[in-house]
Amino acid sequence: MRAYSSYKDIIKLVNKVDSVGLVPTMGSLHDGHLSLIRRALSENKKVIVSIYVNPLQFDNNDELKKYPRDIKNDLQKLETMSDILAYVPNDNEIYQKDEKKKKYNFGQFTKIMEGKMRPGHFDGVATVVEKLLKMFNPSNAYFGEKDFQQLILIKALVKEQKLKVNIIGCKTIREDDGLAMSSRNKLLNSTDRESASNIIRLLKKAKQLYKSSTLEETKINILKDALMIDNLNLEYFEILDTSKLSGFLEQEEEIRAFIACKVGNIRLIDNITI
Ligand code: PAJ
Repeated sequence: MRAYSSYKDIIKLVNKVDSVGLVPTMGSLHDGHLSLIRRALSENKKVIVSIYVNPLQFDNNDELKKYPRDIKNDLQKLETMSDILAYVPNDNEIYQKDEKKKKYNFGQFTKIMEGKMRPGHFDGVATVVEKLLKMFNPSNAYFGEKDFQQLILIKALVKEQKLKVNIIGCKTIREDDGLAMSSRNKLLNSTDRESASNIIRLLKKAKQLYKSSTLEETKINILKDALMIDNLNLEYFEILDTSKLSGFLEQEEEIRAFIACKVGNIRLIDNITI
């Protein structure tokens, strides 16, 4: 692995390589990120891992400041992997001074769940991902199903911009108790960490209930159950056919349950196929 702060240095090294993978991250790398990187390594000759905490996708300055950063440790995790080029830009490399996020219109699916709870968040994500994809022109780019709506957003972005890149969705990697790995987990104190393990329990319960009850009954049951969990405040719980998430894309029918909650003051999201 070698680390670069200028994209031009990376382009010089990869422009003759016939398959380049891109794994965009905001760092504080965990096994979820590493699974994307390993998959990318198995499918490409060179893999660019970007590590950049994108200010334009945060809801407020406090969230941005609080976001965990551990670049030394991140680079150590990648150290032993060959064929990795770590891209670690500063703000000036990505954005012009005072540059604003681009406004996209991907329709209804950016207005529900994460789009509704975090107005402008997806515009911020799409702005930075569009830049990264255009900078490196990778053959394949890897995103986690943990952020399922984000994965659909990126597919819609690529279609709208007519970019020649395959967007590859990767399975969610979990802790032993089922909590989806997330850089934010390290911000949880020990009691909140215990409460957070209920997120997957709620999703799995929904999967069970949905087999024998209606959508409404399932949702009410889960909402009631969530109320009983210490320090866990549900923001939304949805069960949706993901093929209907975006009119932009042709997707196979698949029902998923989605959850967002605050545990203490840490916001966590997760989803499973049901
Ligand atoms: P970040 O949260 O660092 O996640 C980087 C990638 O890792 C995303 O595609 C995310 O879905 C994936 N990921 C996170 N946790 C995962 C897990 N437990 N299992 C599998 N994949 C997981 O998502 C972002 O950064 C940013 O929005 C970004 C796309 C980099 C744009 O700034």
